Amino acid sequence: MADDSFLWELSVDVPTPARVYNYSIGGKDHFSADREAALSAASQYPEVIDVSRENRLFLYRAVRLFARDQGISQFLDLGSGLPGSPNVHEVAHEFNPVSRVSYVDRDPMVLAHGRALLVPDDRVAVVEGDVMRPEVLLDDLVSSGRIDLSQPVGMLLLSVPQFVAQDRRLSRALEHYWDAVAPGSYLAVSQLAALSQAEVHRLNEFVSQRFRIGWRARLPEEINAYLGKWVPVEPGLGDVDAWRPDPTQPPITDIDERGQRFLGASRRQKRIFEYGGVLYKPE
Ligand SMILES: C[S@@+](CC[C@H](N)C(=O)[O-])C[C@H]1O[C@@H](n2cnc3c(N)ncnc32)[C@H](O)[C@@H]1O
Repeated sequence: MADDSFLWELSVDVPTPARVYNYSIGGKDHFSADREAALSAASQYPEVIDVSRENRLFLYRAVRLFARDQGISQFLDLGSGLPGSPNVHEVAHEFNPVSRVSYVDRDPMVLAHGRALLVPDDRVAVVEGDVMRPEVLLDDLVSSGRIDLSQPVGMLLLSVPQFVAQDRRLSRALEHYWDAVAPGSYLAVSQLAALSQAEVHRLNEFVSQRFRIGWRARLPEEINAYLGKWVPVEPGLGDVDAWRPDPTQPPITDIDERGQRFLGASRRQKRIFEYGGVLYKPE
Protein backbone atom coordinates (compact mmCIF):
# COMPACT_ATOMS: atom_id res chain seq x y z
CA MET A 1 0.00 0.00 0.00
CA ALA A 2 1.27 3.47 -0.87
CA ASP A 3 2.70 5.41 2.04
CA ASP A 4 0.61 8.50 1.60
CA SER A 5 -2.63 6.57 1.67
CA PHE A 6 -4.72 6.78 4.75
CA LEU A 7 -7.23 4.28 3.59
CA TRP A 8 -8.23 2.27 6.56
CA GLU A 9 -11.90 2.85 7.10
CA LEU A 10 -12.61 5.10 10.01
CA SER A 11 -15.14 2.73 11.47
CA VAL A 12 -15.36 1.27 14.93
CA ASP A 13 -15.09 -2.20 13.36
CA VAL A 14 -11.70 -1.64 11.77
CA PRO A 15 -8.75 -1.28 14.15
CA THR A 16 -6.60 1.82 13.77
CA PRO A 17 -2.96 2.15 14.87
CA ALA A 18 -3.80 4.96 17.27
CA ARG A 19 -6.57 3.03 19.01
CA VAL A 20 -4.70 -0.31 19.20
CA TYR A 21 -1.71 1.49 20.74
CA ASN A 22 -3.99 3.49 23.05
CA TYR A 23 -5.42 0.23 24.42
CA SER A 24 -1.92 -1.10 25.10
CA ILE A 25 -0.84 1.99 27.05
CA GLY A 26 -3.95 1.92 29.24
CA GLY A 27 -5.80 4.72 27.43
CA LYS A 28 -9.58 5.02 27.21
CA ASP A 29 -10.13 5.64 23.50
CA HIS A 30 -10.54 2.25 21.81
CA PHE A 31 -13.25 -0.10 20.61
CA SER A 32 -13.68 -3.85 20.70
CA ALA A 33 -12.00 -4.30 17.29
CA ASP A 34 -8.91 -2.44 18.55
CA ARG A 35 -8.68 -4.50 21.73
CA GLU A 36 -9.09 -7.73 19.77
CA ALA A 37 -6.39 -6.63 17.34
CA ALA A 38 -3.99 -5.81 20.18
CA LEU A 39 -4.69 -9.13 21.93
CA SER A 40 -4.39 -11.10 18.71
CA ALA A 41 -1.03 -9.43 18.02
CA ALA A 42 -0.01 -10.29 21.60
CA SER A 43 -0.96 -13.94 21.12
CA GLN A 44 1.64 -14.05 18.35
CA TYR A 45 4.11 -11.59 19.90
CA PRO A 46 3.48 -11.63 23.68
CA GLU A 47 6.06 -8.86 24.19
CA VAL A 48 4.18 -6.35 22.03
CA ILE A 49 2.15 -4.81 24.85
CA ASP A 50 5.27 -4.31 26.98
CA VAL A 51 6.98 -2.81 23.96
CA SER A 52 4.22 -0.20 23.47
CA ARG A 53 4.32 0.65 27.16
CA GLU A 54 8.12 0.92 27.17
CA ASN A 55 7.82 3.35 24.26
CA ARG A 56 5.38 5.52 26.19
CA LEU A 57 7.71 5.53 29.22
CA PHE A 58 10.56 6.58 26.92
CA LEU A 59 8.40 9.53 25.76
CA TYR A 60 8.41 10.85 29.35
CA ARG A 61 12.21 10.63 29.67
CA ALA A 62 12.76 12.32 26.31
CA VAL A 63 10.37 15.22 27.01
CA ARG A 64 11.90 15.65 30.47
CA LEU A 65 15.35 15.90 28.91
CA PHE A 66 14.14 18.54 26.44
CA ALA A 67 12.20 20.65 28.96
CA ARG A 68 14.28 20.28 32.14
CA ASP A 69 17.83 19.73 30.95
CA GLN A 70 17.85 21.59 27.62
CA GLY A 71 15.40 24.37 28.56
CA ILE A 72 13.43 23.81 25.36
CA SER A 73 10.07 25.55 25.36
CA GLN A 74 8.50 24.55 22.05
CA PHE A 75 7.49 20.97 21.28
CA LEU A 76 6.19 19.18 18.23
CA ASP A 77 4.67 15.74 18.84
CA LEU A 78 4.64 14.27 15.33
CA GLY A 79 2.11 11.44 15.04
CA SER A 80 0.92 12.13 18.58
CA GLY A 81 -1.76 9.44 18.82
CA LEU A 82 -4.70 9.44 21.23
CA PRO A 83 -4.37 10.88 24.74
CA GLY A 84 -2.48 8.65 27.18
CA SER A 85 -0.97 9.24 30.55
CA PRO A 86 1.18 11.25 30.78
CA ASN A 87 0.83 13.38 27.66
CA VAL A 88 3.64 15.47 26.22
CA HIS A 89 2.27 18.82 27.42
CA GLU A 90 1.86 17.51 30.97
CA VAL A 91 5.52 16.47 31.15
CA ALA A 92 6.72 19.62 29.37
CA HIS A 93 4.72 21.89 31.69
CA GLU A 94 5.93 20.06 34.78
CA PHE A 95 9.53 20.97 33.93
CA ASN A 96 9.07 24.14 31.87
CA PRO A 97 5.63 25.74 32.39
CA VAL A 98 5.96 28.19 29.49
CA SER A 99 6.31 25.35 26.96
CA ARG A 100 4.17 25.47 23.85
CA VAL A 101 3.16 22.03 22.57
CA SER A 102 1.68 21.22 19.15
CA TYR A 103 0.26 17.73 18.71
CA VAL A 104 0.18 16.68 15.04
CA ASP A 105 -1.69 13.71 13.59
CA ARG A 106 -3.75 12.80 10.54
CA ASP A 107 -6.28 10.46 12.13
CA PRO A 108 -9.62 12.29 12.57
CA MET A 109 -10.41 10.51 15.83
CA VAL A 110 -7.02 11.48 17.26
CA LEU A 111 -7.69 15.11 16.31
CA ALA A 112 -11.22 15.15 17.76
CA HIS A 113 -10.26 13.47 21.04
CA GLY A 114 -7.09 15.50 21.30
CA ARG A 115 -8.99 18.77 20.90
CA ALA A 116 -11.50 17.69 23.53
CA LEU A 117 -9.04 16.31 26.06
CA LEU A 118 -5.58 17.74 25.57
CA VAL A 119 -5.95 21.49 25.26
CA PRO A 120 -5.99 23.21 28.67
CA ASP A 121 -5.08 26.65 27.28
CA ASP A 122 -3.35 28.34 24.34
CA ARG A 123 0.02 26.78 25.17
CA VAL A 124 -1.31 23.57 23.58
CA ALA A 125 -2.78 22.91 20.11
CA VAL A 126 -3.86 19.86 18.16
CA VAL A 127 -3.01 20.26 14.49
CA GLU A 128 -4.04 18.18 11.49
CA GLY A 129 -1.07 17.32 9.31
CA ASP A 130 0.99 14.70 7.53
CA VAL A 131 4.29 14.52 9.40
CA MET A 132 5.92 13.14 6.25
CA ARG A 133 5.21 16.47 4.52
CA PRO A 134 7.23 18.76 6.79
CA GLU A 135 7.37 21.57 4.24
CA VAL A 136 3.57 22.01 4.46
CA LEU A 137 3.34 21.28 8.18
CA LEU A 138 6.10 23.67 9.28
CA ASP A 139 4.73 26.45 7.04
CA ASP A 140 1.34 26.08 8.70
CA LEU A 141 2.84 26.04 12.20
CA VAL A 142 4.99 29.09 11.51
CA SER A 143 2.21 31.10 9.89
CA SER A 144 -0.20 30.31 12.72
CA GLY A 145 2.45 31.43 15.23
CA ARG A 146 2.65 27.99 16.85
CA ILE A 147 6.38 27.67 16.31
CA ASP A 148 9.42 29.92 16.00
CA LEU A 149 12.05 28.20 13.88
CA SER A 150 14.78 30.60 15.04
CA GLN A 151 14.57 28.91 18.49
CA PRO A 152 15.30 25.25 19.36
CA VAL A 153 12.41 22.81 19.02
CA GLY A 154 11.93 19.49 20.82
CA MET A 155 10.40 17.05 18.37
CA LEU A 156 9.03 13.55 18.93
CA LEU A 157 8.50 10.97 16.19
CA LEU A 158 7.66 8.01 18.37
CA SER A 159 6.31 4.73 17.06
CA VAL A 160 5.44 6.42 13.75
CA PRO A 161 8.11 5.51 11.12
CA GLN A 162 6.85 1.92 10.88
CA PHE A 163 3.75 3.39 9.19
CA VAL A 164 5.96 4.75 6.41
CA ALA A 165 6.96 1.91 4.12
CA GLN A 166 9.46 3.82 1.97
CA ASP A 167 12.85 4.67 3.48
CA ARG A 168 13.26 7.55 1.03
CA ARG A 169 10.19 9.35 2.38
CA LEU A 170 11.55 9.08 5.91
CA SER A 171 15.03 10.27 5.04
CA ARG A 172 13.66 13.21 3.06
CA ALA A 173 11.34 14.24 5.87
CA LEU A 174 14.05 13.97 8.53
CA GLU A 175 16.45 15.96 6.37
CA HIS A 176 13.80 18.65 5.93
CA TYR A 177 13.25 18.90 9.69
CA TRP A 178 17.05 19.08 10.19
CA ASP A 179 17.40 21.92 7.68
CA ALA A 180 14.40 23.83 9.05
CA VAL A 181 15.05 23.80 12.81
CA ALA A 182 17.53 25.90 14.80
CA PRO A 183 20.78 24.37 16.10
CA GLY A 184 20.16 23.04 19.62
CA SER A 185 16.92 21.35 18.48
CA TYR A 186 16.21 17.77 19.57
CA LEU A 187 14.42 14.79 18.03
CA ALA A 188 13.25 11.69 19.89
CA VAL A 189 12.55 8.86 17.49
CA SER A 190 11.44 5.23 17.75
CA GLN A 191 10.08 2.53 15.49
CA LEU A 192 9.35 -1.19 15.65
CA ALA A 193 12.42 -3.24 14.84
CA ALA A 194 13.92 -6.73 15.06
CA LEU A 195 17.50 -7.93 14.97
CA SER A 196 17.32 -10.33 12.04
CA GLN A 197 15.97 -9.97 8.53
CA ALA A 198 13.94 -13.15 9.04
CA GLU A 199 12.23 -11.70 12.12
CA VAL A 200 11.56 -8.36 10.40
CA HIS A 201 10.04 -10.25 7.49
CA ARG A 202 7.87 -12.38 9.79
CA LEU A 203 6.54 -9.29 11.56
CA ASN A 204 5.85 -7.45 8.29
CA GLU A 205 3.96 -10.46 6.94
CA PHE A 206 1.96 -10.73 10.13
CA VAL A 207 0.91 -7.06 10.01
CA SER A 208 0.16 -6.99 6.29
CA GLN A 209 -2.15 -10.01 6.59
CA ARG A 210 -4.21 -8.36 9.30
CA PHE A 211 -4.18 -4.61 8.73
CA ARG A 212 -4.73 -2.49 5.65
CA ILE A 213 -2.01 0.02 6.41
CA GLY A 214 1.32 1.18 5.04
CA TRP A 215 3.81 -0.59 7.29
CA ARG A 216 7.45 -1.59 7.60
CA ALA A 217 9.33 -2.86 10.61
CA ARG A 218 13.09 -2.46 10.08
CA LEU A 219 16.52 -3.57 11.15
CA PRO A 220 18.45 -1.10 13.34
CA GLU A 221 20.87 -0.33 10.51
CA GLU A 222 17.97 0.58 8.21
CA ILE A 223 16.68 2.98 10.86
CA ASN A 224 20.13 4.53 11.39
CA ALA A 225 20.30 5.13 7.64
CA TYR A 226 17.14 7.25 7.40
CA LEU A 227 18.13 9.38 10.40
CA GLY A 228 20.69 11.15 8.23
CA LYS A 229 22.64 13.97 9.93
CA TRP A 230 20.83 13.88 13.28
CA VAL A 231 23.40 13.18 16.03
CA PRO A 232 22.48 10.70 18.81
CA VAL A 233 23.05 11.75 22.42
CA GLU A 234 24.46 9.25 24.95
CA PRO A 235 23.91 6.30 25.17
CA GLY A 236 23.10 6.28 21.46
CA LEU A 237 20.38 4.36 19.70
CA GLY A 238 18.99 1.00 20.75
CA ASP A 239 15.99 -0.52 22.50
CA VAL A 240 14.26 2.57 23.96
CA ASP A 241 13.58 0.63 27.15
CA ALA A 242 17.32 0.84 27.84
CA TRP A 243 17.58 4.55 27.00
CA ARG A 244 18.55 6.22 30.32
CA PRO A 245 16.15 4.01 32.32
CA ASP A 246 14.66 5.63 35.40
CA PRO A 247 12.85 3.28 37.80
CA THR A 248 11.53 6.34 39.69
CA GLN A 249 9.67 7.84 36.75
CA PRO A 250 5.86 7.96 37.02
CA PRO A 251 4.20 4.74 35.79
CA ILE A 252 1.74 4.75 32.92
CA THR A 253 -1.89 3.72 33.30
CA ASP A 254 -2.66 0.00 33.76
CA ILE A 255 -4.00 -2.05 30.90
CA ASP A 256 -7.27 -3.97 31.43
CA GLU A 257 -7.38 -7.49 32.82
CA ARG A 258 -7.21 -9.24 29.45
CA GLY A 259 -4.07 -7.32 28.53
CA GLN A 260 -2.45 -7.78 31.93
CA ARG A 261 -1.60 -11.42 31.32
CA PHE A 262 0.95 -10.27 28.72
CA LEU A 263 2.72 -7.84 31.04
CA GLY A 264 6.32 -8.87 31.71
CA ALA A 265 6.49 -11.02 28.56
CA SER A 266 9.35 -8.90 27.16
CA ARG A 267 11.57 -10.10 30.02
CA ARG A 268 11.14 -13.69 28.81
CA GLN A 269 11.46 -13.19 25.06
CA LYS A 270 11.87 -10.03 23.01
CA ARG A 271 11.95 -10.68 19.27
CA ILE A 272 10.60 -7.21 18.46
CA PHE A 273 11.26 -3.89 20.17
CA GLU A 274 11.07 -0.12 19.70
CA TYR A 275 14.47 0.96 18.42
CA GLY A 276 15.36 4.61 18.82
CA GLY A 277 16.76 7.27 21.10
CA VAL A 278 17.31 11.01 21.29
CA LEU A 279 19.20 12.96 18.62
CA TYR A 280 20.06 16.62 18.18
CA LYS A 281 21.31 19.24 15.78
CA PRO A 282 24.57 20.60 17.23
CA GLU A 283 25.08 24.34 17.79
C1 LIG B 1 1.36 4.11 17.49
S1 LIG B 1 0.75 5.75 17.52
C2 LIG B 1 2.06 6.56 18.41
C3 LIG B 1 1.58 7.65 19.36
C4 LIG B 1 2.65 8.43 20.10
N1 LIG B 1 3.59 9.02 19.16
C5 LIG B 1 3.41 7.60 21.10
O1 LIG B 1 4.52 7.10 20.75
O2 LIG B 1 3.00 7.46 22.25
C6 LIG B 1 1.12 6.29 15.85
C7 LIG B 1 0.37 7.57 15.45
O3 LIG B 1 1.03 8.12 14.29
C8 LIG B 1 0.03 8.64 13.43
N2 LIG B 1 0.62 8.76 12.08
C9 LIG B 1 1.17 7.77 11.33
N3 LIG B 1 1.65 8.26 10.17
C10 LIG B 1 1.38 9.60 10.19
C11 LIG B 1 1.62 10.67 9.26
N4 LIG B 1 2.25 10.46 8.11
N5 LIG B 1 1.23 11.91 9.61
C12 LIG B 1 0.57 12.13 10.78
N6 LIG B 1 0.31 11.16 11.69
C13 LIG B 1 0.72 9.91 11.40
C14 LIG B 1 -1.12 7.67 13.55
O4 LIG B 1 -2.34 8.27 13.16
C15 LIG B 1 -1.08 7.36 15.04
O5 LIG B 1 -1.91 8.24 15.78
